[in-house]
Amino acid sequence: MGLGMTLGSHLGPLARSYIEQADVVFAGLSDGVVELWLQRMHHDVRSLQPYYREGKSRMQTYRQMVEAILAEVRAGKKVCGVFYGHPGVFAWAPHKAIEVARGEGYAARMEPGISAEDCLYADLGIDPGRVGCQHYEASQLLFYRRRIDPTAYLVLWQVGLVGDQSLARFSTGPAYRQLLVEVLARDYPLDHPLTIYRTPTLPIHAARIEQCTLAGLPQAEIDMADTVVLPPARPLEVDAAMRARLAELDQAESVRA
Ligand SMILES: C[S@@+](CC[C@H](N)C(=O)[O-])C[C@H]1O[C@@H](n2cnc3c(N)ncnc32)[C@H](O)[C@@H]1O
Repeated sequence: MGLGMTLGSHLGPLARSYIEQADVVFAGLSDGVVELWLQRMHHDVRSLQPYYREGKSRMQTYRQMVEAILAEVRAGKKVCGVFYGHPGVFAWAPHKAIEVARGEGYAARMEPGISAEDCLYADLGIDPGRVGCQHYEASQLLFYRRRIDPTAYLVLWQVGLVGDQSLARFSTGPAYRQLLVEVLARDYPLDHPLTIYRTPTLPIHAARIEQCTLAGLPQAEIDMADTVVLPPARPLEVDAAMRARLAELDQAESVRA
């Protein structure tokens, strides 16, 4: 289940009751203070943080997390995995743990939480329905040929790790972000504005909402928890041919009626 992004404010009553009723709680949280708070809700909270290590592949870390969770499920325990944000958003281990548990015949379900995406819509005043909103893991723009639509918002996740092919680093750096800028410059001018966004994990902190240009991204300070948002570069383009076909259809329907 998802604990949401900000301590105390995002946890719903259903998720809380799952935690309280579990035999064992595994915690994949972003902040030690949040973990302490969770420990006050349950006597057996096991942190998944120690599995992370710089230089160790995150895939190995995630598999070990799934194994730790499944070992308790197989032992007959009622298990709850608590992850920050939404457990199914840019998160491999929660999806995999549920898939493996179900594959072995255990009942398993995911309870959604408030993700960084939800928070940025609120804090940056973006409605994804207005012109559309695309979300990419930043490295995918370097590893694969993707087609970006610059008439919609573009949200880039894990920019702090962009270009990490080893999956073992905690951050990359300006030279890697420069390659990301090169890719984005195919669709956006270098002076295009962007927002570096970080929602607070503790309610006493404020969100980071920092503007810079695309050209300035390599030199900007980017943390593991930052998300980068680019507004559209161009207005929506009218599809005149399709609108004409729709008008014909409308006319045919009205004649039939
Ligand atoms: C592994 S993903 C986890 C996302 C999380 N499951 C969620 O629901 O938001 C990590 C990425 O989420 C985003 N993220 C994590 N914490 C954030 C925060 N406090 N504010 C904004 N974005 C955040 C960043 O893009 C970061 O690189």
